[in-house]
Amino acid sequence: MTDFKDQLKTRRTFAIISHPDAGKTTLTEQLLLHGGVIREAGTVKGRGSKKLASSDWMAIEQQRGISVTSSVLQFDYEGKRINILDTPGHEDFSEDTYRTLMAVDSVVMVVDAAKGIESQTKKLFEIVSKRGIPVFTFFNKIDRDARSPFDLVDEIESTLGIQAFPMNWPIGSGQILQGIYDLQEKDMIPFKNATDHPEIREEGMEEVELLEEAGNDFDQEAVQNGKLTPVFFGSALAGFGVTEFLEEYLKYAPQPAGIETVDDEKITPDSDQFSAFIFKIQANMDPRHRDRIAFARIVSGEFKKGMDVTLSRTGKKLRLANVTQFMAEERENVENAVPGDIIGIYDTGNYQIGDTIYSGKKKITYPDLPTFAPEYFNKVIAKDVMKQKSYHKGITQLVQEGTIQLYKAWNSNEYILGAVGQLQFEVFKFRMENEYNVAIQFEPIGSKVARWINPDQVDEKMASSRNMLVKDRYDRPVFLFENQFALNWFKDKYPDVDLEAKM
Ligand code: G4P
Repeated sequence: MTDFKDQLKTRRTFAIISHPDAGKTTLTEQLLLHGGVIREAGTVKGRGSKKLASSDWMAIEQQRGISVTSSVLQFDYEGKRINILDTPGHEDFSEDTYRTLMAVDSVVMVVDAAKGIESQTKKLFEIVSKRGIPVFTFFNKIDRDARSPFDLVDEIESTLGIQAFPMNWPIGSGQILQGIYDLQEKDMIPFKNATDHPEIREEGMEEVELLEEAGNDFDQEAVQNGKLTPVFFGSALAGFGVTEFLEEYLKYAPQPAGIETVDDEKITPDSDQFSAFIFKIQANMDPRHRDRIAFARIVSGEFKKGMDVTLSRTGKKLRLANVTQFMAEERENVENAVPGDIIGIYDTGNYQIGDTIYSGKKKITYPDLPTFAPEYFNKVIAKDVMKQKSYHKGITQLVQEGTIQLYKAWNSNEYILGAVGQLQFEVFKFRMENEYNVAIQFEPIGSKVARWINPDQVDEKMASSRNMLVKDRYDRPVFLFENQFALNWFKDKYPDVDLEAKM
């Protein structure tokens, strides 16, 4: 067995950010094919799953198969071990999607080449860009008519504010796709089913010449800092351009990085002291058990099955005996894991999102994960007034765990729940009923733009029909605006008031 310090150098941990339908699942399948984890495409996601009624979250979980339950896919390719963290999209979009982006070392951005950058990609990119980690772009579906590659590259720069560097270039697209030209190796990779169009090839090669004359150097440091994204073209469905993408990705994607603690100490991955942070807690993955699984990203040291750790927030000692990793549809019990890896720890209620665990004597605490401004809000009430005690207990625990965000009306005891995606409400309702035995009812108040306001500047008169003043769970004042217009109107009226998008 090699030393964990050598093992960690092989780890590449990333997430895919994309807009629904851009091809995230199809590309993931292709990558798993490369890793020999699956043998044919079409096995990852139960197709048609998007149409399921979503009231029974657990059943959905099971039927969706590994797109939900195996939140981490691991495979080996050319001496590297790759961890892909799932970032649920569609109606599964939630704060977990954002938090997962805090646990990766790089990101792959999949964009539909006919559509360009879409809203969800932009939102996710904004979260990622704050971390300054490498972003690799894959323009997908070039086997269909695509937009001009120049346009697409420009759009990255203008809408995302990041430089784009083409690694290869599509020669034609759709029916007339001839292939991709590898700008690094300077050679043409023909599309296998291409119909011959010499004029398209000529046109394409003129574009390639233009690019080469522009002669921008590939700035590896800018890639590492997330200032420049290497751009690839291909078709996940046709399995075209994927190998090239994967190999270049592995060349430039970083190995696991260290993190600074709240005491400003940088913990490097090769430190002998084990440390990890919890970025996601998933409940009821297995209907036979009530347990939750806390997903921990290993930052330093080596995880060994059965090891003792301390939970930094409480000082509690815990033994990591029951730990899983996720591969295809099986959960495997792990014996050893290293920085960059994700372990799933069976949890009976010890962990919260953002918790640090560590081995040894020296206390390690990583900074809290950021809170993301919710967009959807519901008032919530217990159907049965006799169940107030369990109702409050359930809400308190689920909020602490990071399932959903809690707000209170400014002048009453009304509870308002906030979420990034609708699924969070379904999960909350399901768990309140099943774990706390409390039936609840939502009263939708729609989507809002949340802004935290400096407490010294709050004046109840600022509330109007188009904004609502509430408190977050730490009693900090927050305005919920009807929409962006209402927010802009407010800013015009009260130019001196400080408003923050997130706390
Ligand atoms: P997502 O996970 O990002 O939501 O996207 P997914 O991979 O599920 O792909 C969405 C649709 O786009 C699928 O078609 C998929 O087959 C198609 N697709 C993905 N990559 C490519 C590509 O490179 N070229 C073309 N032409 N299509 C691509 P669907 O009809 O929605 O699903 P299915 O029922 O055909 O599987």
